[in-house]
Amino acid sequence: MRLIKVSDEEELSRLAAEYVFSKIKSSEKIVLGLATGRTPLGMYRHLSKYSKEYKQSYSHVHTVNLDEYVGSRAYHDYMQQNFFDHIGIHKNQTHLPDGIAVDLEKECKRYEEVIIQLGGIDLQVLGIGQNGHIGFNEPGTDFSSRTHVVELTESTLSANAKYFTHEKQPRRAITMGIGTILESNEILLLASGEKKARALRELFQGTMNSDIPATVLNHHPNVTVLADEGARSLLEEES
Ligand code: F6R
Repeated sequence: MRLIKVSDEEELSRLAAEYVFSKIKSSEKIVLGLATGRTPLGMYRHLSKYSKEYKQSYSHVHTVNLDEYVGSRAYHDYMQQNFFDHIGIHKNQTHLPDGIAVDLEKECKRYEEVIIQLGGIDLQVLGIGQNGHIGFNEPGTDFSSRTHVVELTESTLSANAKYFTHEKQPRRAITMGIGTILESNEILLLASGEKKARALRELFQGTMNSDIPATVLNHHPNVTVLADEGARSLLEEES
C-alpha cells in the first residue's frame, strides 16, 4: 500500500483528479469505480473542469458506483449533479445499483453481472467511513462478500444524516461487496479530515480484521492512499 501525503482537502482533490484524468486520457477503454460522499466532491469538481478545458471525450469510459440507498435515488442524483452532467458521458455508460428495484436480491446479482460484462473495474476510487467501512461494507462484513443489501450502522447513519433534508434517510443500502471491490485492478482511497484518523491508523498500523473493513486492502497488490494532515494525525510516524 502506498501512502501519498497531502496537506489538505484541496490538494487531495487536485491530485486525485489529476491521477484519474491521466488514466482516462491514456486508456483506450477504462472502467472507473466511483464513490459518493463528501470526500470525492473536490475531485469531481476538478475532473469536470479538466474535461471541459481539454474537451475530453468519455466515449471509452464506463463508470460503476459503489452503492445506493434502498428506496432512494440519492446517489444517482449526486453523481449526475456533481460529475456526469459536466462531462457529457452517455447515460448508458454510467452504472449504479438500483435502490428502487422491486427485487433487491435480483438487483444485486444484476449489478455483479454488469461489472463482469464490462470486464471488471480498472480503477476503483474509495472513501473510508469513520468506522472503517469501504463502500457500505460495515464492520463485520465478510471479506469475500459480493454486492448485497446492508443495514447501515448508527455511525454511518448519523455521519450521513445531513444529506437527507428532502427525504427520510433510508436505513438500508445496496453496496458492492468487499470481494467485488478487491477484484479491481487498482484502488485509490481518499481520506480527509481528523474524523478519519482512527480508521486510517487501523488501516496502516492495525491488524487485518473485519471489524475495520478497510484493513482488507492490505491484501490488495495495488492500493494508493491519498491522505491529508487531519486523516494522518494518529499515524505513529506523524506524531
Ligand atoms: C460512498 C461510500 C462510502 C463513503 C464513506 C466516506 O459511495 O461508499 O464508503 O466513501 O462513507 O464518506 P465521506 O466522504 O462523506 O466521509
